[in-house]
Amino acid sequence: MLHLLLLSALCAMAYGQCPNILTKAQWGGRAATCRTAMTTPVAYVVVHHTEGTACTTQTNCIAQAKSVQNYHMNSNGWCDAGYSFMVGEDGNVYEGRGWSSVGAHAPNYNSNSIGISVFGSYTSRNPNAAAQNAVQNLISCGVSRGFIRSTYILKGHRNVTATSCPGNTFYSTVASWPRFQA
Ligand SMILES: *[C@@H]1O[C@H](CO)[C@@H](O)[C@H](O)[C@H]1NC(C)=O
Ligand SMILES: [Zn+2]
Repeated sequence: MLHLLLLSALCAMAYGQCPNILTKAQWGGRAATCRTAMTTPVAYVVVHHTEGTACTTQTNCIAQAKSVQNYHMNSNGWCDAGYSFMVGEDGNVYEGRGWSSVGAHAPNYNSNSIGISVFGSYTSRNPNAAAQNAVQNLISCGVSRGFIRSTYILKGHRNVTATSCPGNTFYSTVASWPRFQA
């Protein structure tokens, strides 16, 4: 029993606190139509909101992931969802371009950042604790798995381009997290 506990503690250290990540295959996303490999570990993490509908169940978050991906592919004409990952208030992470593909979420930062977007609009409220924890755990997971530099800089989308993203309330919260630099 003790050695099992020790083993899981060691695994948690080795792999960081990875949240539950649904791969694109698991949420039924479309395959990317093109891909540019990204050099990792990246130096930046950029946080977004989708400015769409929030979701608190896996079923509803899958619908949001599909809606974002369809919008980015059909209307914007992109190869895939623009974000590296999407996060729901169900506490799950939904894979977009993933850890090692160049994204389409923040001009000048796409090839050197992980872009994480929370489903919903956070101008006047924060994402719930489950979503906030999932974002923070995803970042530590990326660091421990070697996709994000341990010296990474955290930014809100509004700090790299003219946009209100990720919303006033959520932006203030993100600005209080470790390694944030406007
Ligand atoms: C970052 O965003 C905040 C809030 O909108 C703004 O006050 C600040 O000037 C921005 N900083 C940079 C460097 O973009
Ligand atoms: Zn954004």
